[in-house]
Amino acid sequence: MERLDKILANLGYGSRKEVKALIKNKEVEIDGVIAKDSSMLIDPEKSEIKVWGDVVNYRKYIYLMMNKPDGVVSATFDKYDETVIDLIEDEYKVFNPFPVGRLDKDTVGLLLITNDGELNHKLISPKWHVDKVYYAEIDKAVDENDVRAFEKGIILDDGYKCMPAKLEILNSGRDGSEVKVTIQEGKFHQVKRMFNSLNKNVVYLKRISFGPIKLDENLEEGQSRELSKEEVEMLKNITSQVKNEGLSFI
Ligand code: URA
Repeated sequence: MERLDKILANLGYGSRKEVKALIKNKEVEIDGVIAKDSSMLIDPEKSEIKVWGDVVNYRKYIYLMMNKPDGVVSATFDKYDETVIDLIEDEYKVFNPFPVGRLDKDTVGLLLITNDGELNHKLISPKWHVDKVYYAEIDKAVDENDVRAFEKGIILDDGYKCMPAKLEILNSGRDGSEVKVTIQEGKFHQVKRMFNSLNKNVVYLKRISFGPIKLDENLEEGQSRELSKEEVEMLKNITSQVKNEGLSFI
């Protein structure tokens, strides 16, 4: 149960003060009865709330996927740079969403954004072995030795040994390569540092999937959309999927 004014303010109907005025002006109905008291307690999942005669589509959580562009930081606030939250539509900002994990400022592609703290925690925990797949362009040739090194576990510059990872070569030549990388961790600059350990540099990095969620190719860079019900369910079921599949790709 929550206060009516808080519910409406969280849904974006205005500040607490503005919402109180709405209620005072008899613009709000609860289960067919005009609401009189802005502090009344409501279960928004059970009661029908109407504002200006329209039924309010109540939800506690929002789940978005963004095709993150280059030059934008994966944070809710930044002193200097534009953030991914600046890019989402205003109607979602009232839910105080945040990015699930981080992509570097120059990494593009799939970024999940939500206000569901519990799901976020599950998705970023290495415990659940959620596969993250990246398309990368590398400045040098990549060969089978590199594939084996990824499989064995790359040792990063700080001595950390990565979990086994999958490297697929899409094409490779002296002038550079295109690869697909699947990792289950999310260490700082991980993919770039894995290649640095092999004396190679990532020149372009795009995340194309996160667990069962694939980047929607219809999203232009900078655009986002809500996840479908099915996509949200897939994410929530991730722990059971991971248990069933295990480290299938290794
Ligand atoms: N690995 C990186 O190096 N950068 C990212 O943004 C994501 C994975």
